[in-house]
This record gives sequence, C-alpha cells and structure tokens, in this order.
Amino acid sequence: MDLFEYQARDLFESYGVPVLPGIIADTPEEVKAAAEKLGGVTVVKAQVKVGGRGKAGGVKVAKTPEDAEEAAKSILGLDIKGHVVKRVMVAGGARIAQEFYFSVLLDRSNRTFLSMTSYEGGMEIEQLAVERPEALARIEVNPLEGISEETAAAIATAANFPADLVPKVAPVIVKLWDVFVGEDATLVEVNPLVLTEEGDIIALDGKVSLDENADYRHAGHEALVDQGAVDPLEAKAKESHLNYVKLDGEVGIIGNGAGLVMSTLDVVSYAGERHGGVKPANFLDIGGGASAAVMAAGLDVILNDPQVKSVFVNVFGGITACDAVANGIVGALETLGDDASKPLVVRLDGNNVVEGRAILAEANHPLVTVVDTMDEAADKAAELAHAAA
Ligand SMILES: Nc1ncnc2c1ncn2[C@@H]1O[C@H](COP(=O)(O)OP(=O)(O)OP(=O)(O)O)[C@@H](O)[C@H]1O
Ligand SMILES: [Mg+2]
Repeated sequence: MDLFEYQARDLFESYGVPVLPGIIADTPEEVKAAAEKLGGVTVVKAQVKVGGRGKAGGVKVAKTPEDAEEAAKSILGLDIKGHVVKRVMVAGGARIAQEFYFSVLLDRSNRTFLSMTSYEGGMEIEQLAVERPEALARIEVNPLEGISEETAAAIATAANFPADLVPKVAPVIVKLWDVFVGEDATLVEVNPLVLTEEGDIIALDGKVSLDENADYRHAGHEALVDQGAVDPLEAKAKESHLNYVKLDGEVGIIGNGAGLVMSTLDVVSYAGERHGGVKPANFLDIGGGASAAVMAAGLDVILNDPQVKSVFVNVFGGITACDAVANGIVGALETLGDDASKPLVVRLDGNNVVEGRAILAEANHPLVTVVDTMDEAADKAAELAHAAA
C-alpha cells in the first residue's frame, strides 16, 4: 500500500524524523485557515499517489494565507497523471539551502535491502541514476545489522556528503531506517531531503510503501487505507477472505491455486482474441479447500460484477478432490438461487474427476456447461461472454 505524503509525514514525525508542520485541507477556505494557523510562508501540496506533482503545478509556495487560498483553487481538482487532487497539505515553508536524496527499499531482484543516497538533489532520481550514476550511492543494507549511526555515516560519506554534514545527516538516515523496519515498509523515499538556511536537515517530501503482508502486526495500518479508492468488489471479496483482484474484462475467473489462475487468465485472453476481444474480468484464487461456502462466496463476488458476462470455473482437484468441488459448485448455485444469472463454464480435472463430472451432469444446471480441457473451456467462456456483450 502506497501512502499519501501527509501520511508519510505523520509516520516520519512519530519516529523522530525532522519534518515541517503540515495540515491537510479539502477546500480553499480550509487551506486559508491552515495557512493562518501555520503563519509565515507556506507550501500548498497536492496529495496524490503519483510522482512529479511539482512539475504538474501541484506544489505552490504561498507568502500569505490569501495566496495559499488562491494556490488551493488551482491545485484542488487538478488532474495529475490521471489522479484528480481532492486534498492538499499545507506545509510550513522551508528556506532551502541544498536538496539531497535518500531512499531505502526492498530490492527483490537482489534479495536485499538497498539504500540509495545522493548529495546532488534537484534532479529527478531516475534521470540521475542514468546520467550520473556515480552521484548515486547504492549501498546494500544487511537486514540483521540494519543501519546504525556508523553505517549511516558511511552511507552519507559514500554519497559525497562533506565531512561537516555527515554527523547531521546520519541520525536522520538512522531514523528513516527505523521507519522502514518499524512499519514493515518496502520503500521509504525522501526527495528532497534538505539542508535549510538555518542549518537543519529536514525531510520535505516522503514516499512510503507498506508491505500489506505484515498488516496483521500493525493495527494502525488499516486506518491508512484510502477508502475512496477501494474497489467495492475487492472490498466485498476481502470480507470473505478471498484472494481477488478486479480486472477490466468480461470473463469472470475462478480457480484454485495462484499458478492455475494466472495461466487461466492467459488462456482466456488468448481465446478472447477469437471472440471479439473479450478479456478476463478478475483474478480469483479460492485456494485448496474449495468448499461450497468458499465457491459460493467467490461466485457471489464475480456475479455481482456488472462487467462479467460469463464465468470460467477452472479447478484442478488435488487434496480437495473434484467431487467435493463439484458439490461445492452445485451447492453454491443453490445458495445463490436467482442471483446466479450468468453462464458458467466448468472445467474439472485431477483427483476424482470422473465422480466430479458425474455430479455436475446429474445436477444438470441450465447455466452450467462442463468442458473437459482448459483451452476448450476458455474458448467456450469467451464465446459466451462475447455473445452476451
Ligand atoms: N515545505 C516546503 N518548503 C519549501 N519548499 C518546498 C516544500 N515542499 C516542497 N518544496 C519544494 O518543492 C519541490 C517539489 O516538492 P515535492 O518533492 O514535495 O514534490 P514533487 O517531487 O514534485 O512530487 P513527487 O515527489 O511526488 O514527485 C521540492 O523539491 C522543494 O524544492
Ligand atoms: Mg519529491
């Protein structure tokens, strides 16, 4: 989960990372009031989860509360790379002497944590990495040792910070590492980290991504979810503990096992090319124990997706054998009754497949077509979706 800048700012503050005061506001009037409260020069900043806000006109310096109000009028409602600004943060204005860059992230490809630091700010980091790679210190962080004050000083030195700044910047790097570990983040980025005219090091911007797999040990993370951006079908699936991702096609997909579901998405996309370009409507892995209740919950989510025109149930019987899955499907259709209103193509294979197919044949549900192979089933599901579109 990516956080808004103001949420990152709050987290930073709670870990003792130096930040400026910030007040969130949703209307120009609130912005004016916030600027009055902060006093002095303020900066009105668009709160959207996308980079390049400044360049898009989403960050504006205001000398007076009236200026801040005017800035808010131009920023609220602004479309930044497809993200419409609904909220801004009014931040205290820093007198910037110099801008730097620091980030620490989970580097999956190298199976390590990586810190990236530069004494040269002001340039986009992607551009810096390409054009002046020597100006970006990329230093692995040992997960067992973390970043001590000593390691932080070594990082700052490697990034060409002059000796007199190293002792100032090192403690901030340590605290940013504390945020990273303490919150189970996969990214903590500060661009820019600044030195002020007064000689202070301050995090002026913050990008934090949290690892949702660790949510269970962070009671506070749930409150950080942007409810306005949650897909209602995904929310419904989450309530039933289903592994569901909404996509934008027409063929609903249910399978057991993430690998099987991924390849099902592929064969359906392929088949869709022969049937008017229909595509998978979702990813849904109902896991190993495909009981009637889980199948019903899954079908319920998918059938409630107005974009879905047909459903492909692709199950490989393993520990839960095909007869149990078939009973699950029949039971689910009974449970759903009239709510089940779209054609279902079922492909069963694996353990007890003969018994499973017999159960579906016996039930003879008008919406269900049983197809023996995955490719043929994908083709049938795509054909039905196209016909109903
Ligand atoms: N509180 C502040 N006081 C003074 N100047 C600021 C303040 N916040 C930002 N700035 C200036 O505006 C620039 C852009 O701000 P910021 O980094 O927050 O946005 P951005 O980089 O455009 O957005 P993103 O990081 O999402 O790409 C900073 O590099 C800094 O020069
Ligand atoms: Mg920035």
